[in-house]
Amino acid sequence: EWIAALGPREVLLASPRSFCAGVQRAIDVVDRAIDRYGAPVYVRRQIVHNAHVVRQLERRGAVFVTEADEVPPGRVLVFAAHGVTPAVRAEADARGLTVIDATCPLVSKVHSEVRRYSGRGDTVFLIGHADHEEVEGTVGEAPSNVIVVEDAAAAARVAVRDPARVAYAMQTTLAVDEAEEIADVLRRRFPALQGPRRDDICYATTNRQEAVRAIAGQADLVLVVGSANSSNSVRLVEVAQREGVRALLVDDAGQVDLRALVGVRSVGITAGASAPPHLVDELVHCLSGLGPVEVRETQAQPENIHFTLPREVG
Ligand code: F3S
Repeated sequence: EWIAALGPREVLLASPRSFCAGVQRAIDVVDRAIDRYGAPVYVRRQIVHNAHVVRQLERRGAVFVTEADEVPPGRVLVFAAHGVTPAVRAEADARGLTVIDATCPLVSKVHSEVRRYSGRGDTVFLIGHADHEEVEGTVGEAPSNVIVVEDAAAAARVAVRDPARVAYAMQTTLAVDEAEEIADVLRRRFPALQGPRRDDICYATTNRQEAVRAIAGQADLVLVVGSANSSNSVRLVEVAQREGVRALLVDDAGQVDLRALVGVRSVGITAGASAPPHLVDELVHCLSGLGPVEVRETQAQPENIHFTLPREVG
């Protein structure tokens, strides 16, 4: 059956793709913490939502835990890129842990917006997915003042105590078009709605969506490298699908079902912000084992963003 998947192919690489500055920083934090403090270094939740990254750091001596109470007193605990609630910080402090915060600075920015809005008495609509770790952390800044709004239907029926004092913020890894649609519904219903000057959806999420859109129209199939719990990777699949192309999420080349390649002459490839670049190289290499490939890269927005490390590991 796999013989049907053979043949010459064009590979369209979306750019930018793969690691963003926040993910790179979070991985560097764990790496350097292990160098500086020695293994084991504890990490609360997956440092970034990627199975390969987690396995690689485990091999180096990272130990992933669900909550701070699993960490022996006095040890080093890293907070993951998605951020934490103030309650989690307090618990880690109470246990006497050395905390190193790998929260992406662009997530911290959303936290401070929510604190500001809530502090002046606004109800804050947080556009995002309630069960995502980032949203859990952001809600924790002001649990009684934040209402998570997951879709346009929820935006259309949400009720508040004072419609004149409302603001909104967003999860950083949403689909730009969907989030804007939700914000529009809120703006129409609440003319007094305040919001961030620029969207909270981060540069990396925005750029990767634009890049996959740029290749989707020419591809018979789009493969998105990323893990199933990676919000921005799943959004890339959906964005490609909305462009009318078949799109699949794969953790790595080994997950590609060869039957999906039958009749496919042009494969678009991208990777979520938490997916290591070498996985894309391996995927292209695997495709070249099925026949000659011609690789073309389409550059959307150039990216040149870098975040400094926390002082504990800087
Ligand atoms: Fe930060 Fe955006 Fe990456 S919020 S971790 S730069 S996907």
